[in-house]
Amino acid sequence: MEPREYDEWYKKSIENRDEFWDKIARELDWFEPWDKVWEWNEPFARWFVGAKCNIAYNILERNATTWRKNKLAIIWEGENGEIRTLSYYQLAQECEKFAAVLKSFGVRKGDRVTIYLPRIPEQIISMLTCAKIGAVHNVVYSGLSVEALSERIRDSQSKILITADGSYMHGRTLELKKIADEALSRSPTIEACIVVRRIGEKMIVNMEPGRDYWYHELMALRLANEVKTEVMDAEDPLFILYTSGTTGKPKGVVHAHGGYMVGTYITTKVDFDLKEEDTYWCTGDAGWITGHSYVVYGPLLNGATEIIYEGAVNYPYPDKWWSIIERYGVSIFYTTPTAIRGLMRFGDAWTKRHNLSSLRILGTVGEPINPVAWDWLYTVVGNGRCPIVDTYWQTETGMHTITTIPGMKMKPGWAGKPFFGIESLVVDDKGKPVRAQEIGHLVLKPSWPSMLRGLYNDPERYREKYWTTIPGYYYTGDAAKIDEEGYIQIIGREDDVIKVSGYRLGSAEIESAIVSHPGVNEAAVIPKPDELKGNIIKAFVVLKQGVEPSNELKQEIIEHVAHELGSIAKPSEIEFVESLPKTRSGKIMRRLLRAKEVGTEAGDLSTLEQ
Ligand code: PRX
Repeated sequence: MEPREYDEWYKKSIENRDEFWDKIARELDWFEPWDKVWEWNEPFARWFVGAKCNIAYNILERNATTWRKNKLAIIWEGENGEIRTLSYYQLAQECEKFAAVLKSFGVRKGDRVTIYLPRIPEQIISMLTCAKIGAVHNVVYSGLSVEALSERIRDSQSKILITADGSYMHGRTLELKKIADEALSRSPTIEACIVVRRIGEKMIVNMEPGRDYWYHELMALRLANEVKTEVMDAEDPLFILYTSGTTGKPKGVVHAHGGYMVGTYITTKVDFDLKEEDTYWCTGDAGWITGHSYVVYGPLLNGATEIIYEGAVNYPYPDKWWSIIERYGVSIFYTTPTAIRGLMRFGDAWTKRHNLSSLRILGTVGEPINPVAWDWLYTVVGNGRCPIVDTYWQTETGMHTITTIPGMKMKPGWAGKPFFGIESLVVDDKGKPVRAQEIGHLVLKPSWPSMLRGLYNDPERYREKYWTTIPGYYYTGDAAKIDEEGYIQIIGREDDVIKVSGYRLGSAEIESAIVSHPGVNEAAVIPKPDELKGNIIKAFVVLKQGVEPSNELKQEIIEHVAHELGSIAKPSEIEFVESLPKTRSGKIMRRLLRAKEVGTEAGDLSTLEQ
């Protein structure tokens, strides 16, 4: 897309926003049309009002009954070298069978199902099956652990848990069912637990009679030949995805069938210039929003063929990913800056021993990409031929909101411009747009189709978190700059959300895991800049009276956090301190700790307790 073309299209999409979204929505199948494109009742949006649809129908029936029937939807490679493929027809068949299974457990429209699976085809099958029968999926990343899982089950009041015996990662096996068992003992709402066999005989798992069932045994029962796809209202919830916020409890972000379908469909198509013959690979895990929107829904709505790799980026060798690109002829490759920085460190030789000429489009997501990593991706991986699209968005936005579009001028380190139909602004504290090159708050004007519909069971928190900071606008929580040409650069989070390797973690969440260690009295965590991961977690810990500080204790606290939340939340550094700086009202001033650590200005300290 020529820059001038973008400007023209963008202008039109904003001037005739309803017409723009209406036209796109018509590219998909609906059971009944809408009366109105959208409705705004601050802070609640409704899109395609009155329409009936099902996002899974647009992936399964729509593709499996047309010429795409035998086209491969998924090419999956396990870390142990196993390969599985699923055509659109086979994917639809698997979902049909699994729908009968879930129904036999009494799962009905609106019921919540928690999915705690590694990156295997059943993760996608489970999500699509829930959507098909109108159940609300709640996917939990398989790298999260006991308390993170049980909290998400409890808050969503799920009645079914789908998990696996274990998973492979870095050549090791992770005992998922064991973690699930411990989580289940803390979450009483689960009536049945369905277990996929990923590892097999090598892993002994505890199966509780009357509660735990093997997935493959249930699937073999062939409970029904056909399960009708549920007719959903466009606004019916599709999923809850928990994400870290500024307070201890993760937020259950809710997305709806109709709008989310339109948003993920069109951004995948336009931002990656997706063509029928492409081989698409997004390296994200469906446990996060990137996987929901750009592994599961976006590419499959477009009938794409996609690659899914179960394992870690550099296992068994640092060229694993490059070998996948070469072997399958990947043409669209979408990943994180942390992964790029990690791969860059192994040197160019690992990359150059593979023929990567199939690549056409490169994409990044999750954190700002530094110009050095951008250059490496552009020259060494893309051989100077492939546009890089830097896509900025969030769990809450559901789809890309600010991005580079192929063909547009690229500015390394600058995400790009707003997607069609979306208006973004960089404003000061009063909501007034800042001048070019000044830092301000990034806000979005309501509304776009895949905007979150709220926080699960918590409308007040939703209003307060997103709609009160800058009245009239959706507050992203990010600081940004805009330049003279309207390009936006993301500076980073302004709140207590920490980005580590692109993962989103809440300070308060990690602190409460640290404090649940019996020797700890209080804790504060901050992000500390890191060349590879963007940030690492540094924790300041006040011990209980009489507890002796030691290196062993540091290690014990780190392991405790891994057990409760998962390895990604482990602090990399712990410093024992006598006390923590607090405001007069007793809030920990993380800002001050951060300023001390990184040597920046601490800002206003007038509320500090002296
Ligand atoms: O800080 C921004 C950063 O990731 C946050 C959203 O995190 P999450 O909800 O986990 O979603 C991640 C995947 C969409 C944002 O508030 N972020 C996301 N994309 C970018 C980014 N920062 C800079 N550049 C990006 N392209």
